[in-house]
Amino acid sequence: MRKITANAYMTLDGRGEFPKYPGSDRSSRTANALFRHMWIARYGDVTTVVMGRRSFLGHRRVWSSKARKPSDPKFLHDYSHFLDNVDKVCLSRRLKSPGWENSRVMKGDLSKIVAELRREEGGNIMIEGGPRLIQEVLRRRLADDYWFFVMPVVYGKGPRYWGSMKEQNTLKLLEVKYGEDGEIMLHYETVR
Ligand SMILES: NC(=O)c1ccc[n+]([C@@H]2O[C@H](COP(=O)([O-])OP(=O)(O)OC[C@H]3O[C@@H](n4cnc5c(N)ncnc54)[C@H](OP(=O)(O)O)[C@@H]3O)[C@@H](O)[C@H]2O)c1
Repeated sequence: MRKITANAYMTLDGRGEFPKYPGSDRSSRTANALFRHMWIARYGDVTTVVMGRRSFLGHRRVWSSKARKPSDPKFLHDYSHFLDNVDKVCLSRRLKSPGWENSRVMKGDLSKIVAELRREEGGNIMIEGGPRLIQEVLRRRLADDYWFFVMPVVYGKGPRYWGSMKEQNTLKLLEVKYGEDGEIMLHYETVR
């Protein structure tokens, strides 16, 4: 069965923003350990990436190969190449055409969409934001595991990951990784 992993990058106060702090410097020539772990290590087994419309459009603008400059480091070109080629699902009720290769638009009940994707042929599925979508995934317990990437910044604005829940969702902690710039990555699995 295809495994579904949800990725959530957040500030300490649970906001889905990417503030400036020492570790956010993307001009670095080499990927830091957490980027390698979060993405490079998954190029082989993730074949579908799911995003909410806002995140999808943001990724298309910032991370597609069209957005790369020749002077960008190779690991960013590699990441963009991976994203261009992977099967991408944009969740949207209003977007008609995704405007990015290997992409499709899906809409409807999230549990049904996830069940449909699980039935398709392919490798693992990554749900890559945004916060609103991840909140819904958590509320409905749709992912098999979660990576929470917590940046050492209390930011105070931006979309929130944590909202009200109908019922408690208790996760099992599998692993903790520490970044070079004060980030923490928490790996949890869903207890079924
Ligand atoms: N920290 C992170 O990991 C991270 C990642 C990505 C983005 N971000 C930030 O967060 C912002 C966007 O996050 P967000 O939480 O506001 O939005 P989002 O989750 O990216 O997108 C929400 C949109 O997804 C669509 N959608 C969600 N579920 C759907 C369903 N079941 N069926 C059809 N459409 C569905 C809807 O689009 P329609 O209105 O078209 O129906 C909804 O308005 C970005 O601006 C970015 O800065 C953060």
